[in-house]
Amino acid sequence: MKILVTGGAGFIGSHFVRQLLTDAYPAFEGAEVTVLDRLTYSGNRANLDPVAGSRRLRFLTGDICDPAAADEATAGRELVVHFAAESHVDRSIASAEPFVRANLVGTQVLLDAALRHRVSRFVHVSTDEVYGSIDIGSWREDQPVAPRSPYSASKAGSDLLALSYHHTHGLPALVTRCSNNYGPYQYPEKVIPLFITNLLDGRPVPLYGDGGNVRDWLHVDDHCTGIALAAQRGQPGELYHIGGGVELTNKELTGHLLDACGAGWDMVRHVDDRKGHDRRYSLDTTKACSELGYRPRTAFPDGLAATVRWYHDHRRWWEPLRSLTQ
Ligand SMILES: NC(=O)c1ccc[n+]([C@@H]2O[C@H](COP(=O)([O-])OP(=O)(O)OC[C@H]3O[C@@H](n4cnc5c(N)ncnc54)[C@H](O)[C@@H]3O)[C@@H](O)[C@H]2O)c1
Repeated sequence: MKILVTGGAGFIGSHFVRQLLTDAYPAFEGAEVTVLDRLTYSGNRANLDPVAGSRRLRFLTGDICDPAAADEATAGRELVVHFAAESHVDRSIASAEPFVRANLVGTQVLLDAALRHRVSRFVHVSTDEVYGSIDIGSWREDQPVAPRSPYSASKAGSDLLALSYHHTHGLPALVTRCSNNYGPYQYPEKVIPLFITNLLDGRPVPLYGDGGNVRDWLHVDDHCTGIALAAQRGQPGELYHIGGGVELTNKELTGHLLDACGAGWDMVRHVDDRKGHDRRYSLDTTKACSELGYRPRTAFPDGLAATVRWYHDHRRWWEPLRSLTQ
């Protein structure tokens, strides 16, 4: 099987590529993997170091918004797994333009290339944030989108584009929406690696608002397994939710991180809330569980402890990145 992974030098995409090239997914054993990545601030070739010697890996540095790059990367591919995106909400509040460009225009260019090259499956990776905020209960896949940040609006638009290419052109595209990921190789601007790297350096951590915002936490390995299942068994034109089943307020998450890093609450600084901060996200994952055989397998305390260990052991990976985010 010949697979294109966009954004394969980022946090989640690189995990998926490392898993593919170590044959972690039986359905894709022996797959040849092309990565198309623009290497923005969050893309890092070093994320693929563990598989850099694989003869089954081809790396193309390029922009999904560039039709020639999208065309070259897609030609001859059977499966496209589309991770490439601008992914950090705070950055989208500072400037929405890169989000509209990469997430909306980039997805349209890639969909056109996939259509031209008649790929047999297109998996578009998205987020629970497209639904807005929910006080009680959980969203099912038939819930209308109601995004509230420029990031989530650009992702919602890209999801609808992917589904429209299925309905209009018959492109075998499907969409996965997941909750908050954590694990190794995550750029240290996101809350878990930011807090861990600050605490490893003896620096305080910033807690937004009252700390009451609720997120569901999903280990990146479970997410990528869910994506592989969707690529293998999902139906074109459908949406699938991939969650971790671990709902925590930001304050509870902070408590876990302080414990895991051996620090106390004196290391926490309360900062003004994020503009338009969604209060709670929650996905109903019944459909992925029953139709794809998906189950999150990583127990949160184990996944978090392993993540802390990874950052502890990989200073050389994150220290240069940290200096860019200060
Ligand atoms: N991290 C999460 O918790 C989370 C949650 C829900 C959904 N997602 C989605 O998963 C996907 C991957 O997220 P991530 O956390 O790995 O993000 P990331 O920021 O770590 O990686 C994004 C990758 O895309 C590349 N990229 C960006 N713009 C590009 C362009 N125009 N052309 C080619 N490559 C480009 C970057 O260089 C980088 O390698 C995104 O689509 C994101 O919206 C992430």
